Amino acid sequence: MDLQLVRYDVDEDGVAVLTIDRPDKLNALNQQVLGELDHAVRQARSDDAVRGIVLTGSGDKAFVAGADIAQFQTLDALQGTRFALQGQAVFNRIEEMPKPVVAAVNGYALGGGCELAMACHLRIAAETASFGQPEVNLGILPGYGGTQRLPRLVGRGIATELILTGERISAQRAYEIGLVNRVVPAAELIATAKQYILTIASKAPLAVSMSLDALRASDLPLRQGLRYEAALFGQACGTEDFKEGVRAFLERRPATFKGL
Ligand code: COA
Repeated sequence: MDLQLVRYDVDEDGVAVLTIDRPDKLNALNQQVLGELDHAVRQARSDDAVRGIVLTGSGDKAFVAGADIAQFQTLDALQGTRFALQGQAVFNRIEEMPKPVVAAVNGYALGGGCELAMACHLRIAAETASFGQPEVNLGILPGYGGTQRLPRLVGRGIATELILTGERISAQRAYEIGLVNRVVPAAELIATAKQYILTIASKAPLAVSMSLDALRASDLPLRQGLRYEAALFGQACGTEDFKEGVRAFLERRPATFKGL
């Protein structure tokens, strides 16, 4: 696929940087961007040389300023549901990546942009970034996961406030409510996000992907989630890397993990 609105760069450390590249429209998500993003994520998933993804927006103004409002003009009820399900499917595939995905939020993360950041495993924000779910201003509600992922991240009370008022909040406020993991100066954003990937990449890869899997199950009822955790724990105990990790600890040396 010829990528025009998403840049795909893999650095020498195996970090894939995916940049949504539509700065004239503040990186708003249209069908083409979503399709290219999906393609790039699948490519990063299947490339063994890629250790994780940093997802960011082009320019210094926006991460993603939402779904493309221009395409809303023709949506009817049926198409609206289809539209939401299509975006959700792409975001679900990001969340289901077995390798870490870090959102490097470089500016506006509004509507679908905030939802995209929430589908990533970790969120690092530039001091200049801002967040919000302004859909009520347009007569709709979040459709790419906002009503589900935001309360899971920040609690239902704050999520209700943000979704009903459409208020835009600063990176610092997003940090205070647990929406982002860290706030850094804009100039340090990409390097910080890459560092997270490299730190995680130094751990046992299967343990990382199983941890992500178990964390996704944290919205199950507690007893079911605990059963799921125990099953994955058992699987982890069957890996070579588990043996190596324990042996290395006892021999007081760094572990060499193989992802086996
Ligand atoms: N969809 C489509 N186009 C968008 C967009 C979106 N979500 N957000 C911004 N753009 C476009 C603008 O239409 C404008 O295009 P133009 O130059 O061809 O007219 C360009 O991006 C720049 O945006 P502009 O509004 O001029 O920038 P600003 O600095 O004055 O305001 C925002 C920035 C983010 C506050 C404002 O663009 C905005 O409110 N965007 C919509 C946010 C939103 O509601 N997102 C949720 C959608 S469900």
